Amino acid sequence: MMPIVVFAFLGFLLLFVILGTYALPAFIRKNQSRWSGVWQEAAGLAFNYLYLLLILLALSIAGFAWYYVKNTPWESHLMEWLNIIVRVMHFTFGIAWIGASFYFVFLENALNRTENVRDELAGNLWAVHGGGFYYLEKYKVAPKEIPKDLHWFKYEAYFTWISGFSLLFIVYYFNAEAMLIDKNVLDISALQGIGIGISSFVAGWVVYDQLCKSGWIQYGLAFAVFGFILLTGFAFFYTHVFSARAAYIHFGALIGTLMVANVFFVIIPSQKAMVKAAKEGKPLDPSLGKKALTRSIHNNYFTLPVLFVMVSNHFPSTFGYSYPWLSLAIISLGAAGVKHWLNLKEKKQQSVWVMPVSVLLLLAAAFITAPKLNPDACEDKVRFAEVNAIIQNRCVSCHSAKPTDDVFTRAPNGVMYDTPEQILAKKQLIMQRVVITKNMPQNNKTKITEEERNRIRCWIESGASLD
Ligand code: HEC
Repeated sequence: MMPIVVFAFLGFLLLFVILGTYALPAFIRKNQSRWSGVWQEAAGLAFNYLYLLLILLALSIAGFAWYYVKNTPWESHLMEWLNIIVRVMHFTFGIAWIGASFYFVFLENALNRTENVRDELAGNLWAVHGGGFYYLEKYKVAPKEIPKDLHWFKYEAYFTWISGFSLLFIVYYFNAEAMLIDKNVLDISALQGIGIGISSFVAGWVVYDQLCKSGWIQYGLAFAVFGFILLTGFAFFYTHVFSARAAYIHFGALIGTLMVANVFFVIIPSQKAMVKAAKEGKPLDPSLGKKALTRSIHNNYFTLPVLFVMVSNHFPSTFGYSYPWLSLAIISLGAAGVKHWLNLKEKKQQSVWVMPVSVLLLLAAAFITAPKLNPDACEDKVRFAEVNAIIQNRCVSCHSAKPTDDVFTRAPNGVMYDTPEQILAKKQLIMQRVVITKNMPQNNKTKITEEERNRIRCWIESGASLD
C-alpha cells in the first residue's frame, strides 16, 4: 500500500510543477508591466527554480523506485533504464554544449577582421546553413546598448555536468564494490573510493584555477606543457587507486568538471559583469572578456580528450593496458593535437606537422596497447571438460541465468555460460577478454590463474571441440 501512496503523491506534485511551467510564464506576461524591476527579476528566477524542482522531483521518484525494488529482480532492470535515460540526456546536453563551443571557437577563428569592418566591431562572418544566409558581427567590447533578448549559453554545460555526475553515481558509485574498486589495485572501501573520487575533482579545480590566475598563464606553451604533466599526474593517481575503467572515467570527469567550472565560475560571471557595466554605461574592463576567452579556449582543447575518454570506457583494449595512465596521457595529447590542428586550419594557419604528429601519437597508443601473445606452445590437447570446469568455477557466478554474485544479479551483457553451446558460441569473445586483454573475470574477482587462462587459450587455438 505504502509505495502506491508515495508514488501517487510524488506523481501529483510532478504534474503540478509541470503545469506550473506553463502557467507561470503566462502569469508573468500578464502582470509584469505592473511590477518593479526587482519583482520581474524574481519572476525569472522563480521560473528557473521551477525547473530545478522538476529535476529534483524526478530524481526522488527514481530514488523511491530504487528503494522499493532493492534486492528484487527489478533492481538491475531499474538501474539499466536509469542508466539509459541519464546517458541519453548526458550526451544530448553534451552535444549541445560542445557543438556550441566548437561553433563559437570556429567563429572566433574564422572571423573576417579586416575587410569592411566598422570601427566598433572585431569582425564579421557570412555563413549559409539550412537553406538560409546568416551574417554575424562580433563587437570589440560590447554594443552601446545591451539588447533585451540576449542569448546565453550555459545550461547545456550545467546539465551535461549534472547528468554526467548522475551517471557516475549510477554506474560507479552505487555499484562501487564491483565497478570502482579493484582490490588488486588498492584495497579500499567503497566509501573511501567515492570520497577520493569526489575530492579529487575539487582539488583538481582549485589547482587549475590558481594556476590560471597566476602569472604563469602568459607563457602559453609552458603553461600547456605543465598542465599536461599535471593531468598525467592525475591519470597516474587514478589508475593506482581505482579499477582501470573507473580511473579512465574519473580522468574524463575531472576534465569535464574543469570545463563546467570554467563556465560557472569564470566565463558566465565575467559576461554578467560586462553586461552590468554596459547597462550602467560604465567603462568595460577588457580583461574580463579576455579571461573568459582564455578559459573558453582551454575548454576547446579539452573537448576531444574528454570525448575520447567517455567512449573508451566501452573498449577494454584501451584501459586494459598494463600502464593505463600512459595510454590515457598519450591519447589525450593526440586528441588535443587534432583539435589544435583544426583550430589552426580555421585560422588559415595551415600547419604541416601538427596533424601527422597527433595521428602518430594515437597510433603509438594503439601500438603499445596491442596484446602480447602468450608464446607457449600448447602441448597436450585440452578437453572441454577441463575448460568447462574453469568457466563454471570462475565465470558463472556472474555469467549465468541465476548468478550467485553479490553484485551482479543478472548476467552482465546477457552473456551466460550455463551450457556447452553457450560457451562455444562466445569463444572469440572469451579469447579476447580472458586471454588477450585479461579483463575478465571482472577485476579478477574469482581469482582465475594464468595457467587457467592459458588452458582456455589452448582449447580455443586447437579448435574448441566439445569432447
Ligand atoms: C564479477 C562478475 C564477473 C565475472 C566473475 C566474470 N565476468 Fe565477464 N562480465 C562481467 C561484466 C560486469 C561484464 C560487462 C562489462 C564489460 O564488458 O566489461 C562482463 C562482460 C563479459 C564479456 C563481454 C560480453 C560482451 O557482450 O562484450 C565477456 C566475453 C565475458 N564477460 C567473459 C567472462 C568470462 C569468460 C569469465 C570467466 C573467466 C567472466 N566473464 C567472469 C562480470 C563478470
